[in-house]
Amino acid sequence: MSKTHNILILPGDNIGHEVMEPVKKLITYFKNKGARFEVSEDVVGGTAYDKHGVSLHDSTLAAAKAADVVMLGAVGGPKWDKVDYAQRPEAALLKLRKELDLFANLRPAIVFDALLDASTLKPEVVKGLDIMIVRELCGGVYFGEPRGISDLGNGVRKGVNTQVYTTPEIHRVARVAFELARKRGNKVCSSEKANVMESGRLWREEVIKLHEAEYKDVELTHMYADAVAMVLLRNPKSFDVIVTDNLFGDILSDEASMLTGSLGMLPSASLGSSSGGAPDKNGKQNAMYEPIHGSAPDIAGQDKANPLATILSFAMALKYSLGMPKECAALERAVSKVLEQNIRTMDIAAAGVKPVGTQAMGDAVLKALQNV
Ligand code: IPM
Ligand code: MG
Repeated sequence: MSKTHNILILPGDNIGHEVMEPVKKLITYFKNKGARFEVSEDVVGGTAYDKHGVSLHDSTLAAAKAADVVMLGAVGGPKWDKVDYAQRPEAALLKLRKELDLFANLRPAIVFDALLDASTLKPEVVKGLDIMIVRELCGGVYFGEPRGISDLGNGVRKGVNTQVYTTPEIHRVARVAFELARKRGNKVCSSEKANVMESGRLWREEVIKLHEAEYKDVELTHMYADAVAMVLLRNPKSFDVIVTDNLFGDILSDEASMLTGSLGMLPSASLGSSSGGAPDKNGKQNAMYEPIHGSAPDIAGQDKANPLATILSFAMALKYSLGMPKECAALERAVSKVLEQNIRTMDIAAAGVKPVGTQAMGDAVLKALQNV
């Protein structure tokens, strides 16, 4: 805890602001307990577009690169639907991921016992679930060239995106998955569509090569992405770590969030520059933490959003970037305690229990943390 860590807070748009408030209080709490955090805050997404005419200002990008931790809320909303693609709120998020080289996106799906009733699946299917989706975040169809919409004449248009992966891109994200698996259930399921896509075939072959060379002790299986979607509902506990590409990872992690009861429960860590643990040769590892949910314009400004995904994302920051694994565990326990006390936001409220608001939920977690 001796080094001073820079934390950049980017609330983003809509509920992004509300869910970040409890995190600010948590930061203050840890500072009061002796943690050395240097905290700054900036705008991103639609809010930045309104202020600067660009969704990610160069100075914000520079600050993000310099930070040890970027805490991001959520970006986007119908207000910016007509904005040019390059300046859309989502473009800011993708640029941050790309520029910080945050290639490994860790999306854990954990079912808290107290929340068993919040899942639409049978309790026995999800009880005790603890899986980790490792999503490749800097490549694939999100960034592949060529891309664009062209006019073929006679009222016919063509839209193109390109799914592309190279050996190093596959190896580095697979390595993160294998390393994580070794500290968990020691199983990796690699997922693609090798039956129809060459990029998927390459993905599978390269994962196998890396496994043979360095990770033979980890159990490796392969599954087409559509089958993973199915098994996630039928027998999710058969997974430990799932490693997959950018697009499939986006889809499968939304699906996995529903096993836990709500999109409002899933945190994420996006790590760059190393194997997801060790910093680069300058001692710096870029990292950004964000809930996997969107900016929920429909409930923005109403104190209804669930802040737990963002709070749990901050817990991941404590563990992966701030060298505070004990504090991470304490914060996760605090969240669990609050849920056991039946304190719930609207999205996870049990029948007959009056839900609490975003800030009350945040305060409850802080109080529970003070008592763990
Ligand atoms: C996510 C989101 C983003 C993505 C959007 C907002 C660009 O859905 O982080 O999962 O597609 O990656
Ligand atoms: Mg998504």
